Amino acid sequence: MLAVLSVLFLYLCSPVCGVFQKLYCTISDSCDCDFKPNIKDLEWDLYKNVYGQHLAQDIVSEEVARFLQNKSPERPLVLSFHGSSGTGKTLVSSMLGNHLYGSAMSSPYVHQFVPTLHFPLPDRVQEYREELKSWVQGNLTECARSVFLFDEMEKMPPGLIDVLEPFLGPSHVVFRTNYRKAIYIFIGTSGEEVIHRKALESRQAGRDREEITAEDFQEAIARTVYNSTASGFFQSSILRQQLITRFVPFLPLSRRHVERCVRSQLCQRGSCGRGDVVEAVAGDMTYAPVQGHYFSTTGCKAVPAKINLFL
Ligand SMILES: Nc1ncnc2c1ncn2[C@@H]1O[C@H](COP(=O)(O)OP(=O)(O)O)[C@@H](O)[C@H]1O
Ligand SMILES: [Mg+2]
Repeated sequence: MLAVLSVLFLYLCSPVCGVFQKLYCTISDSCDCDFKPNIKDLEWDLYKNVYGQHLAQDIVSEEVARFLQNKSPERPLVLSFHGSSGTGKTLVSSMLGNHLYGSAMSSPYVHQFVPTLHFPLPDRVQEYREELKSWVQGNLTECARSVFLFDEMEKMPPGLIDVLEPFLGPSHVVFRTNYRKAIYIFIGTSGEEVIHRKALESRQAGRDREEITAEDFQEAIARTVYNSTASGFFQSSILRQQLITRFVPFLPLSRRHVERCVRSQLCQRGSCGRGDVVEAVAGDMTYAPVQGHYFSTTGCKAVPAKINLFL
């Protein structure tokens, strides 16, 4: 009995097991690979550690929960994050990876693309299109539950992202590869003017930030990115076909949010009680517009560098 168990143990731990796992993944569309979603932890992280972004918190937790409840979704989850620099877009996308996979953001099933790194030359768009298509296809064959993150969309050469159109729709199940279980996150600054305008109007009218609703933005962001040559979605068929599940607006951060960023980072460095540094760093940021000084122009981005300066 013991001998049988040891052989079984050796077999399960051997590299052969990995090969079988991979083979199983290839032929089975139920293979979930490293996928170990923990929605409760994701929600907790979003609501506790992301400041001033009630829309992003609500939309992301709602859409991810809804998507994962459905064992065979009709289409992939496609979210597009918009807002100015330093407002938490990359932070939220990392939280997603962290709470969906056993090995968090270092999971082999989280794929990140940065245009300046992966698609730097505008005259090679045709080549990039082929590469991106076969990369996505290959990875979805290996694991249907893959996440694809496209950061800095405003630097994406126009016309490139449309190669993903067939994957983002409802009808793509080919050779047992289920294209509908994937998650796509696009991240960019386009639409920031629209978002700023709404946030400013709300502030000037003396309304609570939390009164701003997601519906205020969906149409306006879609229109802006479709018409902008620097959004990655210029005249994109992905938008014409309405393949983006939700646009996720990231609001500009106020001084009190910057202060929370400083306090949290100070605590991580073991200097929780340094109210003087919180005051100095928040006071050293630039706030816009000139009249009112409501919003930090760099969000929380410069916080670590400024803490080094004042601590
Ligand atoms: N809303 C936020 N709440 C908490 N921390 C934030 C927020 N926005 C930005 N930060 C912090 O500021 C830094 C830059 O944020 P990041 O997510 O990279 O911004 P971007 O929107 O440009 O992607 C990170 O260290 C992040 O933790
Ligand atoms: Mg970013």
